[in-house]
Amino acid sequence: MILDTIATGGCRSYLVGCPDTSAAALIDPELSRIDRYLGLAARNSLRIRFLIDTHTHADHFSASREMARRLEVPVVMHRHSPAPFVDMRMEDGELLAVGRLRLQAMYTPGHTRDSMCVRVGDCLFTGDTLMAGATGRTDLPTGDADALYDSLFNGILRLDPACRVYPAHDHQGSGPTTLGQELAANPRLKHRERAAFVENMRNLNLTMPAHLTEALRTNMSGGKTADQLLSEAAAKVPFMSLAELSYRVEAGGGALAVLDVRERDAYEQGHIPGARLLPRGQLELRVNEELPDPTQHVLTYCALGLISTLAAATLREMGFQRAVALDGGMAAWRDAGYPVRTGAEP
Ligand SMILES: [Fe+2]
Repeated sequence: MILDTIATGGCRSYLVGCPDTSAAALIDPELSRIDRYLGLAARNSLRIRFLIDTHTHADHFSASREMARRLEVPVVMHRHSPAPFVDMRMEDGELLAVGRLRLQAMYTPGHTRDSMCVRVGDCLFTGDTLMAGATGRTDLPTGDADALYDSLFNGILRLDPACRVYPAHDHQGSGPTTLGQELAANPRLKHRERAAFVENMRNLNLTMPAHLTEALRTNMSGGKTADQLLSEAAAKVPFMSLAELSYRVEAGGGALAVLDVRERDAYEQGHIPGARLLPRGQLELRVNEELPDPTQHVLTYCALGLISTLAAATLREMGFQRAVALDGGMAAWRDAGYPVRTGAEP
């Protein structure tokens, strides 16, 4: 078996490949690492055939939906996953054929209602059911400490103690351990009695994950993150540097229409000399009167360079093929010491 571990902060994704057939499965991919996964698969002469999420992640953004779209391969999750885009729903004990490898689903609810572990030979991909020195938390939506107790003590901990544990998180960077090592040293597993285990899980008082609502929204619906929208827009538009714009502003002339896409009060408190005000929220409605010539060279800017990228992408979609966005925003323009005008439009 070919096995690659891809770390993204404390998150872990795994590329599991069959050396005989070059078929592979990718377990718990993270949205920001898509190019890395594709590069690794190519380097190992593997073709990703399945995208597996061990559960609905609440702390990071799954790449499964986006990669499934690009690779035209199925998203695999447990039957209880709420996500409508799951193509193959598995149940306890079922096998996924990845070339000659057999990946077995083990239903392990507790961290979430849709948690499963994936067993391949003596390797167990535990998701957030069991981690080195920890277990998944049970205080997030659909978590259940009682169910986690059964999934652990009446489930995966009954497997061969030599079975290696590959979790979805490894915050200490301790690498894979074994079930035996975890049984011996994992502090949460010291509570062998159900009541003590549940009591301990209910009193962990952990802080909430940073992107909880956005992660649940996108992972459960297949919708896009704000970062995804921005990076898709950034891939469609050229940018202009602050220095280049400054040179053009100083040289004068109206060859380049500079559009401030912030709100009026921000514009009046300070804008780039010669800029016109066209708030992002009014762009589609006012563009015909503001920019009658679709061949006009247009630059958009905003406070930080994010909304202006969306605005430039919208203009390009509307036919303004010379729309560009400022590489940076009004804050960077000020910080660099370039001239600022205040007050209403002339
Ligand atoms: Fe999780």
